[in-house]
Amino acid sequence: MRGLILSGGKGTRLRPLTHTSAKQLVPVANKPVLFYGIEAMAAAGIDEVGIIIAPETGAEIQAAAGDGSAFGITIEYIEQDEPLGLAHALLTAEPFLGQSPFVMYLGDNLLRDGIVNLVDTFRTDQPDALILLTPVPDPEHYGVAELNDGRVARLVEKPKEPQTDLALVGVYMFTSSIFDAARSIEPSWRGELEITDAIQALVDRGLRVDPHIVHGWWKDTGQVQDMLEANQLILDDVKESIEGELVDSRVEGRVVIAEGARLERATVRGPAIVGHGTRITDAYIGPYTAIGEDVTITHAELEHSIVMSGSSISDLEYRIEASLIGKNVRIGRGPTLPKAYRFVVGDNADVQVL
Ligand code: DAU
Repeated sequence: MRGLILSGGKGTRLRPLTHTSAKQLVPVANKPVLFYGIEAMAAAGIDEVGIIIAPETGAEIQAAAGDGSAFGITIEYIEQDEPLGLAHALLTAEPFLGQSPFVMYLGDNLLRDGIVNLVDTFRTDQPDALILLTPVPDPEHYGVAELNDGRVARLVEKPKEPQTDLALVGVYMFTSSIFDAARSIEPSWRGELEITDAIQALVDRGLRVDPHIVHGWWKDTGQVQDMLEANQLILDDVKESIEGELVDSRVEGRVVIAEGARLERATVRGPAIVGHGTRITDAYIGPYTAIGEDVTITHAELEHSIVMSGSSISDLEYRIEASLIGKNVRIGRGPTLPKAYRFVVGDNADVQVL
């Protein structure tokens, strides 16, 4: 069995971070989202994985995930010229996938319980496709499934009036029958070849599409709030490990302080993670915060946030909360009065003074 991870696309909903970086590389608990998918493949014994990349962000993804040896698998990169939809991405990968059954995993999805059991079920039951569904409060943002006697009856991509609350999770298991189905569909209203329509084509042809309801949590990290929630969910399971240096500092609860990090007169209340080379001085880091590598935090308070590598935050009067701070960002206070705000912020940024 082979694996296909979709890591192309535009990431418009995570701008401005995705102006300069692939959305699949935004870190959740200090690890790129994409790596969770790769690790899920490796854990399920899938050792030949293709990754769909976009021309703009492909090089960065290749540099991060490499040839797969760090994960114990081999990775082949497949460039999709334009983000013309999930079914288009799948057709682009047809030469790599050939006749092999495969798992398709959307590179911005996180699935708590992984895919080991699902792959086993797929191997044992041998349907033409297996889809994952989970009840959500906002089904209109996803592909939505209607079931009839436990079988898949109808699938609609982002319906305005959803008939059920069962969202399609971004992990699918297919046989090669999906390629003809993908070739038979037309682009949707958003101009994409939808995987949801391709699966509907399988159903229409009388092929067997098994549904599987996911009970552990699932996150599509397409938007900032989702990223912060994913960060919270992963940090909830983190195991305490203090390898960095603590000087007159306090850590409470489940906290990871990486080797090479240094805390001075700081308090970190878990669950939280602090990356290699980071300096936290006269500061408070609250629950559900992930601080990347080589970050400097001085005289500031932060919680429920993600701070990416190389950034510096200093001398703030109020606490930073529920924030997603990109790479090499500087947030600070100037030395002189009168007090004022001064911003150099990229397009589509969202700055709120609360
Ligand atoms: O997350 C689950 C949802 O994912 C499903 O419920 C929907 O049925 C499915 O269509 C999909 O919806 P999204 O609108 O969230 O998909 P998105 O455009 O975010 O793309 C998902 C991943 O696939 C993302 O990592 C980018 C990548 N991608 C996307 C497109 C459109 C590609 O590699 N190539 C593409 O052409």
